[in-house]
Parts: sequence; C-alpha cells; structure tokens
Amino acid sequence: MTRWNDGSDRVEAVSPDITEETNALPTRYFTDPDVWEMEKEKVFGTYWVYAGHVNCIPDTGDFFTRTVGDRQVIVLRDHDGEVRSFYNVCAHRGSEMVEDTPMTDPGNARRIKCPYHLWTYDLDGDLASTPRSFEHAGMNADLEDEDVRELDPEANGLRDVATERIGPFVFVNFDDDPLPLAEQAAGLKEELEALPLGEYEHARRIVSEVECNWKTFGGNYSECDHCQANHQDWIEGISLNESELEVNDYYWVLHYTHAEDVDDELRIHDEHEAKFYYFWPNFTVNMYGTADGYGTYIIDPIDEGRFQLVADYFFESAELSEEEEEFVRTSRQLQEEDFELVERQYRGQNAGALGQAQLGPNEHTLHRFHRLAQEAYDA
Ligand code: FES
Ligand SMILES: [Fe+2]
Repeated sequence: MTRWNDGSDRVEAVSPDITEETNALPTRYFTDPDVWEMEKEKVFGTYWVYAGHVNCIPDTGDFFTRTVGDRQVIVLRDHDGEVRSFYNVCAHRGSEMVEDTPMTDPGNARRIKCPYHLWTYDLDGDLASTPRSFEHAGMNADLEDEDVRELDPEANGLRDVATERIGPFVFVNFDDDPLPLAEQAAGLKEELEALPLGEYEHARRIVSEVECNWKTFGGNYSECDHCQANHQDWIEGISLNESELEVNDYYWVLHYTHAEDVDDELRIHDEHEAKFYYFWPNFTVNMYGTADGYGTYIIDPIDEGRFQLVADYFFESAELSEEEEEFVRTSRQLQEEDFELVERQYRGQNAGALGQAQLGPNEHTLHRFHRLAQEAYDA
C-alpha cells in the first residue's frame, strides 16, 4: 500500500518476501545525497558496469576513458589485442593522466604518459620509463647517483580494473573480488552473444542531462503502463496485450509485440518483437523490432538529483540511411517524452509527501530493480 510520509522518517524497508511485489523502494532513497554517496561504493563500486564498445577501439593503443561515480578508468587495446582497463591514476603521486576521452572520439597512444613528472607506462600497465630526474640524485645532496633505487616496473605500474565482455560490450568492476560477469549477466550474456552484435558499427550518440535520480529513469524504462497515455505515436505499432515483461536475477526484458508483422530482414534478431533489456545497475540494450541495428543506454548518475542518458545507436554502417535517421529521430522523441515524465515525478518525489510508493502488477520489473538496490544497500 501507499505510505504517506508521517514525518517519523522511519519507512519500512522493502519486504524481504519477493512475493510482496507492491512495495517500492522508500522514496528517500531517490532524493537523499547520502544514498548517492553509498551507491558509489555499494552499487557502482561492486557490480559490473558497462564501459563501452570494443568496435570503437579496434587498434593497438586505442583507448577511451569512462567515469563511474568518483572513479575514472582508461579502457584500451593492448599489444595482444586484449581490451584492458586501468585507473586513470598515476602510480607516482596519483595525478590523473589522460584527459576525458569518450569512446565516440577515442585516443591512440603507444604508451600512457603522466603529464605531471612524465612517468610513462606500457599498454600492459607496467612502468616503462621515468625521466632522468628519477634515476639520478640530482638536487638531493644527501644521495649519490649509485644509491638511487631502481623502480620495479611491475610494482610501480598502473592499477588494473577487472574487465570482462559480453560480445562487444566491455564491462568493468571495481570490487577487489568481483562476482564473475557471467554470474551477474547469466542468460542475458548467452542471448546477446548469440547475436552478431560485433558486426555493427557505432553510428550515433545522443547525450542528455536530466533532472532526476538515475533510478527514477530506470524505473520509467522498466514498465509500459505509462505508454498509452504518454507515447501515443509509438504505441500505435505495438500490441501491448501480447507483450510481456520478463524478470531475471540481474536483468529484465521488455518484449513488445508489433501490431503488424514487420519484414524479417529489418532487424538483427529474428523474434517478431522488440526486446529491451535492462541490466542492473544502469545499462540497457535495445533490440528494435523495426530497424536492423540496436541501441544502448547508459543511465549515468551525476548526483542524487541528476543523471546523463547516453544513448548510442549501432547500425551496419556508421553512415545512416534516411530510414535510419528517421528511426533515431523517433527514438529521440520517446526519450524526450520520458524525460518530461521523470522530471515531473522527481519533483513529486522531492516534496517529502510520499514515503513509499505502491507498485502495480505490470511494475514487477521495477520491484526487481528496487529489490536489487535494497540488497546492495544492505550488503
Ligand atoms: S604524478 Fe604522475 S609522474 Fe608524478
Ligand atoms: Fe516511456
């Protein structure tokens, strides 16, 4: 049931009984800055988080950066063709080394050089060289050149970040002892790896800043009870009654059946539907029913009250046809419709009136989402 805030500040946690699907995560978890601080560790420092797409870094030394909470990684292609990640933090005195580099405009480097005192690292993270000032006593009158200690390249190398892939999607994990990605992704990994995702090129990125908590938008993405009233153009092509929302441990899938069958040639997957995957905590894969391509969303928190939606589109070629352009425009329209909804909802969440929301039967996907948040906070 709905629980209005009685001012006591004590709102019962979501029921540990998964059958009680009407309990939402208490509203204050969407608005409290301390919760965002906690999520940096317990959510974004614990689970696998999407970093980017391997097709954007095809050659040795190609790299991009990705910021997750307070941490930034450099994701790069090494000499063996492997994709690996390091903290963008110098082993000398901790300077950030490379500038912000989105995967859509990747860099290329033979080595990573820290601009502060010019320590330089190989693509495997080992310290490759230091300037002469680190090899000679120099200005230190108490030391002879021969007493200067040599630096072990490995012990003074960059700090690795666990990196794994699902097809072309690269994920990173900041935990010291992460659960395997295959465990977090389970059936999602198998489903996505059965598709030729790596054969498609990055074609378009649209970044938006939205005034609401990242989980508020995640919840909006995970249900379609709002579609009839708010996405009238889109809903025309969908048979909502035949659609299904499927819930799994760390991901849920929104299967939308098209009212009219679309040409089989028009999509990467061969089900007669669109499939939208939400992968905890903040990544979605969008398999459209009416386009031969796919999309991804990163729902990137900035703080408790703002996030960035990073929408990427992948098609057979980076040069879009007129139909594909039109498709991206329609997708953008849907995003804008949703931004309006979640910003309005967030103003309501901030009013302090509602202690805990009431979820309906088609919001069981949200319930799973909120449960995962609760589990992460309690861990
Ligand atoms: S902090 Fe990077 S070289 Fe000194
Ligand atoms: Fe929507």
